Amino acid sequence: MKEHFDALDARTSKALEGGGAERIAAQHKKGKLTARERVDLLLDEGSFQELGQLVTHRSTNFGLDKQKFLGDGVVTGYGTIEGRLVYVFSQDFTVLGGSLAEAHAQKICRIMDLAMQNGAPVIGLNDSGGARIQEGVVSLGGYADIFYRNVRSSGVVPQISAILGPCAGGAVYSPALTDFVLMTEGSSYMFVTGPNVVKTVTHEEVSSEDLGGASTHASKSGVAHFTAPNELDAIRQLRQLVGYIPSNCEEEPPQLPYTPGDERRPALDSIIPDNPNQPYDIREVLNSVIDPDSSMEVHAEYARNMVVGFARVAGRTVGCVANQPATLAGVLDIDASTKAARFVRFCDAFNIPLLVFVDVPGFLPGTDQEWRGIITHGAKLLYAFSEATVPRITVITRKAYGGAYDVMNSKHIGCDMNYAWPSAEIAVMGAKGAAEIIFKGEITQAADPVAKLTEKENEYKQQFANPYEAAARGYVDEVIRPSQTREKIIAALEMLRNKVDKLPKKKHGNIPL
Ligand code: HXC
Repeated sequence: MKEHFDALDARTSKALEGGGAERIAAQHKKGKLTARERVDLLLDEGSFQELGQLVTHRSTNFGLDKQKFLGDGVVTGYGTIEGRLVYVFSQDFTVLGGSLAEAHAQKICRIMDLAMQNGAPVIGLNDSGGARIQEGVVSLGGYADIFYRNVRSSGVVPQISAILGPCAGGAVYSPALTDFVLMTEGSSYMFVTGPNVVKTVTHEEVSSEDLGGASTHASKSGVAHFTAPNELDAIRQLRQLVGYIPSNCEEEPPQLPYTPGDERRPALDSIIPDNPNQPYDIREVLNSVIDPDSSMEVHAEYARNMVVGFARVAGRTVGCVANQPATLAGVLDIDASTKAARFVRFCDAFNIPLLVFVDVPGFLPGTDQEWRGIITHGAKLLYAFSEATVPRITVITRKAYGGAYDVMNSKHIGCDMNYAWPSAEIAVMGAKGAAEIIFKGEITQAADPVAKLTEKENEYKQQFANPYEAAARGYVDEVIRPSQTREKIIAALEMLRNKVDKLPKKKHGNIPL
């Protein structure tokens, strides 16, 4: 038997060598970990079970028959994070640049199929030169096989992509189809066509980093949801993210232990400035309402006038969506609408209750927004909230003006509990603008137009710049002191724990894309 064991051991150690010591050293020199080091750090110690370690490619093109590496440039398998099952693939840049071809793709597809069958997340650690050039069209086929599975798995199991090296060409579309994209700063990039092609076609000179680095995608394009200064932090973030979400669409998110205590938060009673045009940071409100240090912001650098992210309330995962008065007065624009809409849909797909804070002066006016289609993009958020069947709670802290009032998880589009602070102003628009329009004649004819405007502004404010008109009609369930917000939310989440809401039978809706 010994010679059989020796043969197995020889193969295993060959597979563990990846592309060899020299290429591993080069990988480390770039500040990057190897595919196996990443998997070991990502998963609970000793939990990784590798699949397909001995798979090799079958190509003989361009000398590939002399370049066979066990595993074919990707480490695949399953393991646990905090004891919960996850599937993982980790591309090995030291083997043919982590390039993807037939066998490499089949290994990824295999774990995606297992993940669907067994209801667990897929985490992809991407570090690849793209389609393996020597293998030609089978590489393209391999990508398409993955794209197809990304789409079929969407909304069934969570899919998370970490970009830890190059990711170019069509290769970017698999991460784009997954739920979350995380990029490392300075060592990863994503683009459909690289700087050389850009230069040839548009004559623009741009570096890889500027074109598709982590900071570009986190702040300008919104392609990346998270960035990390290094790979250790990237892996820490991946583990944290998995902790908020259920393993599949049939499960509830993990619940952490919670001991009830004094849930009042007196500091919130003085958070709203006396002047309604003065900003405050909605993150301070969120942090007071959620469990201490329980948040993970998503898209933190993109469309900062909207804050979205995961948190816990009484140990339970919630998805927070909030206008940010500290940036652009919290106005709704194209980017804020699409950012929030995508997050709302993720939470709804995976049974995560929505907690929405509203302080919004309306949609951003202007030709730029109109010509780029704010009508369609704003409608995405309206659509996302309206179709969400998870528990949905809204707190109106200050302004809820115009169409933005409707869009931001109002009672009318299915929110379950709507609270307003006494500082809430639920109206068609701000009092000054409203007075200028409806009392235009009276104001212009008055002996003192300025005094008249102030008088009419106050009249409008009395009537509408408060939560009571909306409360009288039941649009607001309760007007509460800000300090009561956390206890009200805990009670409402508990009350809504067994909520059942079903969409009408359909193949699928037609979200305005
Ligand atoms: C085969 C590849 C490869 C590829 C890299 N390598 N990319 N082998 N197919 N696509 C190999 C190199 O030959 C080299 O092998 C090793 O990986 C490391 O590459 P280097 O160039 O030495 O590394 P570096 O200088 O860090 O540059 C990395 C890189 C560059 C920027 C990724 O290799 C590169 O530009 N590669 C080609 C990228 C590309 O055009 N891919 C196709 C995109 S189109 P040795 O043996 O020397 O170590 C695409 C279509 C998908 O992906 C469509 C889906 C729908």
